Amino acid sequence: MSFTRPEYPSDKAARYALLLEQADALTDGIDHPMASLANIAALLGQGLPDINWVGFYLMDDGSLLLGPFYGLPACIRIPLSRGVCGAAARTDSVQRIADVHAFPGHIACDSASNSEIVLPIHAQGRVVGVLDIDSPLLSRFDETDERCLQQLVHLLERRCDFGQTAYRTGIAE
Ligand code: SME
Repeated sequence: MSFTRPEYPSDKAARYALLLEQADALTDGIDHPMASLANIAALLGQGLPDINWVGFYLMDDGSLLLGPFYGLPACIRIPLSRGVCGAAARTDSVQRIADVHAFPGHIACDSASNSEIVLPIHAQGRVVGVLDIDSPLLSRFDETDERCLQQLVHLLERRCDFGQTAYRTGIAE
């Protein structure tokens, strides 16, 4: 397989439509989560403007453990009681944070980050991980980002067999 970075449209929804097409093609027939999460982190890292980190944390024995990502090295383990990622996983809700410095317990892995969006990922009705994206801009993520990223997460939820990780997700194979 060879991958060429396309010229992404400047319109946000159109850009996401293309990213979703690419994500669909990249994950087609792939049920191993680590392969697809790695490719999706790279896809978003290359395809989304004004972000400095994108990646996944997966549930491992009751806390979040770093998974595939694109960006600077990041914190390895996040308890559910901490951070934007912990809040998303604990409350099973999307966290769209306009200013991370105003979020109690925010974990600053990359000091360049000013806003963040975190979306829970599910398998068999439970949270198995999160998609986390950081931006150096304040208020970088709007309703369109949330809606389109949610579609991407739903694609991963359909395609990935989260029983196939070395992470202790609690999901049976
Ligand atoms: N900021 C996150 C930690 C992960 S990094 O952004 C990669 C948080 O507060 O949970």
